[in-house]
Amino acid sequence: MKTDGKYYCDVLIIGSGIAGLSCAITAADLGLDVIIVNKESSIQESNTNYAQGGIVARGLEDSPELLSDDIMQAGDGISNPEAVKIVAYEGPGMVEDFLVKKVGVPFSRTGDDEFEYAREGCHSRRRILHSKDSTGRAIETSLVGKLGEYKNIRAYSDHTAIDLLTIPHNSTNPIALYREPQCIGAYVLNNKTGNVERFFSSYTVLATGGLGRIYQHTTNPPIATGDGFAMADRAGARLINMEYIQFHPTTLFHKDADGFLISEALRGEGARLKTKDGVPFMAKYSELGDLAPRDEVCRAMYEEMIKRGDSYVYLDIASYTEINVKKRFPMIYEKCLAFDIDIQKVPIPVVPAAHFSCGGVQVDTWGKTSLKCLYAAGEVAATGLHGANRLASTSLLEGLVWGIRSAKDIAGNFNGNRPYKEFDIPPWQFPERTEETDPALIQQDWVSIKSTMWNYVGIIRTTRRLERARADIGYLKSRVDDFYRRAQLVPMVIDLRNGVRTARIVAEAALKNNVSRGSHFIK
Ligand code: SIN
Repeated sequence: MKTDGKYYCDVLIIGSGIAGLSCAITAADLGLDVIIVNKESSIQESNTNYAQGGIVARGLEDSPELLSDDIMQAGDGISNPEAVKIVAYEGPGMVEDFLVKKVGVPFSRTGDDEFEYAREGCHSRRRILHSKDSTGRAIETSLVGKLGEYKNIRAYSDHTAIDLLTIPHNSTNPIALYREPQCIGAYVLNNKTGNVERFFSSYTVLATGGLGRIYQHTTNPPIATGDGFAMADRAGARLINMEYIQFHPTTLFHKDADGFLISEALRGEGARLKTKDGVPFMAKYSELGDLAPRDEVCRAMYEEMIKRGDSYVYLDIASYTEINVKKRFPMIYEKCLAFDIDIQKVPIPVVPAAHFSCGGVQVDTWGKTSLKCLYAAGEVAATGLHGANRLASTSLLEGLVWGIRSAKDIAGNFNGNRPYKEFDIPPWQFPERTEETDPALIQQDWVSIKSTMWNYVGIIRTTRRLERARADIGYLKSRVDDFYRRAQLVPMVIDLRNGVRTARIVAEAALKNNVSRGSHFIK
């Protein structure tokens, strides 16, 4: 493995979803020199790309107060009021100014060319902008298209961040010890050449998305291996609320569907959950019925399935809606049809799956983490907005708001300072990395992580299950770390190292908190 390649920039952004790209565009507008790295071969590949439902905006007869109340209620009393206020007051304006006017996202419109607002669980108003049922793709495509207009944004796909560069840890200068710990970039694997490159930056923004892939069943794409959480933790940044993993009630139950999401927007249009023999059941569990908070819906489904010995329930839109399902939800329609399920005629078999991390790397209202010069935005960050459970369609908005705010804060603080110039940072070094990667071993480690997390740190937790998870994941982590020190560095090894560390963080946070709240439920 060669260790060459040095890159310099004002702002290094790791990750290319809505948080990373809105940060990049805003920073570039403010005159900063930006580099984006992402681990997939296409910059488009991000969690954002897969979002279906939409992004919260200002609906008709809506107000910041109503939105705040809905977010707080979903967060089960522990949302950060400051973060909620920012999103409720500033968020919808950013959707309009940045996404609609500047970037040109084609949100769905009515026949009168007005925005078509959707509804999802716990929203007191129709206020969700969407692009049919592929909202994330529409946003991501527009953002990626916009990047081309900027000479001061360089993007490197197929680049997997390994570790954040920090002073004093990575410096060979003994004097660095007296400096406040600070992030100055990242060691990054060039997937194609196998070289580890140094990306030096005055500021670094983690925008790496989520962690769903540490669970057996998830709506998240394969990239969501918890990379940013693990990197921040290794670098000494503070993480909070990691026990609050949101499970989405409705993913397609089929062995080949790989957690395909059936958007909550279907329930917003009237779809109802039913047992296998056709009896709607949500009214028994919540006054809000099928639009109850996601944690309540998941537990109700779980209970019905256990009681009846069923492995799924049905989501029925065919019997309950007036809308043209095929036109409103074309992607879901096509996908289900490929599995011989015509959602216009028959109910859809569904099960819950891990969906979103409400906690993450703690940030302030401007995206600053506890580690100097490190920012975080999007799912990897914990602004406190979501508290113990997230209100539907607030995640893209949170990514947008903190992506933009982080860039503004960085631009306001930047004084031409290049801290990395003061301290010698050696090329990536690691002794004797000769061990060949055996995909069968890696695969099996993932199976163990995912099944442990699903069964013991899942929708319904008990202290005994969590203790077992801590022990099992702890053992796996030491084995993976040991292997990592000897193994040839390839993306799948980096992902595994991050995944097992993030799993341990979640399991430990869950074990430490014995109060059931929102998405963290202890029986
Ligand atoms: C969905 O479309 O149901 C997901 C939306 C979200 O998680 O915010």
